[in-house]
Amino acid sequence: MQEVIKFDQVFFSYDTIPVLINVSLAIQEGEFIGIIGPNGGGKTTALKLMLDFLSPDRGSVKIFGSDPKTMWENVGYVPQMMDFDEQFPISVLEVVLMGSLSKASWWGHFPKREIENAHQTLKTVGLYEFKDRPFGSLSGGQKQRALIGRALISHPKLLLLDEPTANVDPHVQKDIYELLKTLKKSMTILLVSHDFEMLIKHVDRILCFQKEVSSLLPTQVCEHFALGLYHPPLGGKNEP
Ligand SMILES: Nc1ncnc2c1ncn2[C@@H]1O[C@H](COP(=O)(O)OP(=O)(O)OP(=O)(O)O)[C@@H](O)[C@H]1O
Ligand SMILES: [Mg+2]
Repeated sequence: MQEVIKFDQVFFSYDTIPVLINVSLAIQEGEFIGIIGPNGGGKTTALKLMLDFLSPDRGSVKIFGSDPKTMWENVGYVPQMMDFDEQFPISVLEVVLMGSLSKASWWGHFPKREIENAHQTLKTVGLYEFKDRPFGSLSGGQKQRALIGRALISHPKLLLLDEPTANVDPHVQKDIYELLKTLKKSMTILLVSHDFEMLIKHVDRILCFQKEVSSLLPTQVCEHFALGLYHPPLGGKNEP
């Protein structure tokens, strides 16, 4: 099996504040990984290192065995918060097409094939009938699905999602997990989330970030975590 993500003794600080300390981890092809940890624990920072938006101070980050900057085509990213101006006149179809800007001509025209691809992606995320609606008019859950569509249009082999289920009701949350369950068959998924109950039901493994990282089985995530009381696995540290 191919190693999709590998961190080897990674250190990262913003200015002088250490955020990741000696993080080593390996994620295999086809794994569905849940990422948990307290606010400020370094989860978003770790994703940004995987995307080459940031570089480690020490240590190395490899995606599919290579430098992350050469792997963008293979990675889909749903950022933690998307501050689209609600009034900005962009349709749902256009939001999804933003994920394949490299396919547009220099005057911003997409080939027919790419529009077809976007339609197909909208069907995958269940938003085809909303394709011409202004993005700002969608509900919170529909917006999240449109942003997942934007990450999926390039057919990534690795999907990184940073809290896509924050601020959505339990019904929509379930909906997003159902979608991820289908996607899991064809890609490796990393999902940052604070909703432990749903997360542990769906993922294969949990990585807990609090400057350092520990790998846990879903059954090792205890109710203390939901109260913000993160601690190493009971019965000894489980190395990633
Ligand atoms: N651009 C930045 N400049 C300086 N400090 C930053 C920057 N981005 C993040 N930080 C700090 O780095 C630490 C880790 O941030 P990060 O966003 O990775 O945490 P997180 O685990 O994603 O938290 P949350 O659950 O709140 O999203 C925090 O203390 C944060 O304030
Ligand atoms: Mg974050």
